[in-house]
Amino acid sequence: MAGFTHDRWMEEQGIPIHRGYYIEDLRTIDLGPWSVRGCDAAFIQLDGMPGIVEGRVQEIPAGGTIKPFKSAVDEFVYVLSGQGSTSVWGTKDQPQHSFEWSPRSLFVLPRNAWAQHANMQGDRPARMLHYSYMPLAMSAIPDPAFLFNNPFEESLRLGGSVEFYSEAQSITQEHIAEGGARRTLWLGNFFPDMAVWDKLMDRPGRGSMNRSVYISAPGTELAAHMSVFPQGTYKKGHRHGPGRLIVIPGGEGYSIMWPEGKEKVIIPWHEASCFVPPSRWFHQHFNLGKISGRYLALHPPAQFAGREERIEGARDQIEYPDEEAWIRERFESELAARGLETAMPDEAYTDPDYRWSYTGAAGS
Ligand SMILES: [Fe+2]
Repeated sequence: MAGFTHDRWMEEQGIPIHRGYYIEDLRTIDLGPWSVRGCDAAFIQLDGMPGIVEGRVQEIPAGGTIKPFKSAVDEFVYVLSGQGSTSVWGTKDQPQHSFEWSPRSLFVLPRNAWAQHANMQGDRPARMLHYSYMPLAMSAIPDPAFLFNNPFEESLRLGGSVEFYSEAQSITQEHIAEGGARRTLWLGNFFPDMAVWDKLMDRPGRGSMNRSVYISAPGTELAAHMSVFPQGTYKKGHRHGPGRLIVIPGGEGYSIMWPEGKEKVIIPWHEASCFVPPSRWFHQHFNLGKISGRYLALHPPAQFAGREERIEGARDQIEYPDEEAWIRERFESELAARGLETAMPDEAYTDPDYRWSYTGAAGS
């Protein structure tokens, strides 16, 4: 018998639960009919998720609409395939907020609000990945009747503003975790297409010509970031806490994950692949495509960042000169098999302080 209330609840739902380290394509996994939501669905519970975050794939039938549903916790939704619209409303006398989405849109469903999804295409289903902190909510309040379709009514956060799903706004903040460095945070409830999002910040400390965007949903603890890194490069290995679900908006490559000193797991990825680095496992991302690789990481609450488990003196990032030799060799042979060459300069492997000069179109 599973340990957490959320594990037991998932097993009672009678829909598939996909486990393991990764899913190569969320667009094609098996789903099953789920009476609670009135649609086909499956849970994603990869290592590093149980008890912390819920992943769920839901499908809207061709030309169909799913019944309205209300959750007591905020949710990120990432569109895997299809085109449609979503309406969200708080109290009965408030206006509905409706918006249209398409593949790779990212949006927020606010807690205590009704949401209804419609598929605008009549010839194919639409699939969405939902991500929330539901396991934590269920540990604290193990009553589905409280968490789902609760008659409690609340105005939408932001006071029911018609701007609720308008374009994200950027703010600059001091980032404590990175030694007070300034970073730009994008606050918003709707991001139209993560494969073409180009408002990125140079982030040289993580290697390659890496650029990132940090995202936060106003009035919630929901947060995410997306990293973009150019053709022929790979990022530095690093590790942190559990619960960060990675989904790929574009590009192709692989990632390696491993607990220190133990066997490594290799994860091939392309659009709609999904994986979660288990707690404190090192992981490292490699671009094998002809365009930039990009991954979107949906974050658990900040208390799972993994800094508390940090052992004094232990490294949480592996600089290129300290890598095992086969990391580079494997990357170069995988590129060669595709007729491509590494864009990693030799100096990156000898100078631990090597920094790319951010030129060219790395963010494209
Ligand atoms: Fe990571």
